[in-house]
This record gives sequence, structure tokens and C-alpha cells, in this order.
Amino acid sequence: MRLFIFDDYQALSRAGAALVAEVVAARPTAALVLATGVTPMGLYQELAERRDRGAFDTSQLRIFQLDEYLGLGPDDQRSLFLWMKRAVLAPWAITPANVARLPGNSSEPQVACRVYDRAIEAVGGFDLAVLGLGSNGHLGFNEPPADPTSRTHIVALTEASVESNARYWGGRDQVPRQALTVGLAWLLAARHILLVVSGEHKRAILRRVVEGPVSPETPASYLQKAANVTVIADKAAWGDITQVT
Ligand code: PGA
Repeated sequence: MRLFIFDDYQALSRAGAALVAEVVAARPTAALVLATGVTPMGLYQELAERRDRGAFDTSQLRIFQLDEYLGLGPDDQRSLFLWMKRAVLAPWAITPANVARLPGNSSEPQVACRVYDRAIEAVGGFDLAVLGLGSNGHLGFNEPPADPTSRTHIVALTEASVESNARYWGGRDQVPRQALTVGLAWLLAARHILLVVSGEHKRAILRRVVEGPVSPETPASYLQKAANVTVIADKAAWGDITQVT
């Protein structure tokens, strides 16, 4: 695991964008699984600007959705697909045929999870996972206690996730209680993993992820065992920079 600390969110976003651009330059057909949430938005925006300058070729990229609330269709204002559409698919001009949507509104979500697994298998797994860190240590909606061998599956959101997602949707009662998520097994097997962490409120959990024991109670701690993991954080999220180990 490599850890880089940046002065502020802007520097963090630029560095994250550079890493994604490097992976894509080496493999223009790369399969990417991308988080929503607030943290990677600067990075995605930076890449959209690079694309507009002709410096980031998105024409052959395959984009996979990381997680979705159960029961929501792609046009629901709270759907994470719609968020991804606004933040990535539209500004990067991704060809619709190259997008894998997690169908939160499937009438048979278990079957939908298996179909999604087959789609991931068909591209040979992920070349790159861009992930945010939940305040409870989750990756995607792999909530604690998490199973590191899980594939795409249905989860019940923890109270911590309901609480932290309430800020996006205007209240707890707006947050669905179940979700679909790509499992840890797929994420940990990605050929590159980029974890993006910003803000003082992530400080305690980030330390546990990087320095604490590997445990189902801290899902992101399994990154300690994965290959090719880059953690980028701003100073607010890491705290005392002299303590980088
Ligand atoms: P955030 O979400 O980037 O909005 O803080 C992270 C997460 O919950 O995975």
C-alpha cells in the first residue's frame, strides 16, 4: 500500500486524476469501477477537463457502477446511477454501450447480481477501482462486518451509512435501507486500486484502515492485503504529516 498526503483537496484531485490518466493511457480499453460520493468529484472533474483538452481518451473505456440503492430506478433523483451520469458518464462522454449499470430496480435483484458478476468476469475483472472511504470503513456498500470473498451482493445499510447518506438526500427518511454493491473480492482483485480520502472527519477511520488490524469490522482494512493500492489523502484527513509510516 502506498500512501501520499497532499496539502489540500485540489492537489489531491489533481494527483488522483493523473493516476487514472496513466492507467488509461496504458490501456485505453480499461474497465473502471467508480465510486460516487463527494470525495472523488474533484478528480472526475479534473479528468473531464483533460478530456476536453484532448489529453484523456475515454472513447473505449468500460465503466462499471460500484453500488446502488435497492428499489431505485436509473431516473430516481437519489439513484447513484444518476449521480454517476452527472459526474462521469456525461462529462467524459462515455458510450452508453460501455456502461454497466447496477439495476437497483430489478424485480430479481439476486439474479441481477449474478448477471453483473458475469459482466465483470467478461471484461477480465477491473483494471482500476476508484474508491471513497465511508466513515464506518466501508468500500462501496461493503458494510462492516464485511466478507472479503464477496462478489456482487445485496446489503442492509448500517445506521452509520444511512446517517452519512442523509446529507445527500435531505434526510434519513429519504435513504433506502438496502443496496446492491460490487463485493470486496472484485475490488481487491482490481489491477490498480485508488482510495481517495479527504477531510478531518475521515481521520480516525483512515488511520484504522492504514495502520490498524485487518478486520471485517473495518472493510477497507483489507486493502492492506491487496496488490497495487494507492491511498491519497489530504492533510486534513491524515493529520500530523510527520507520522507517515
Ligand atoms: P464521501 O463518501 O466521499 O461522500 O465521503 C464516501 C463513502 O461513504 O463511501
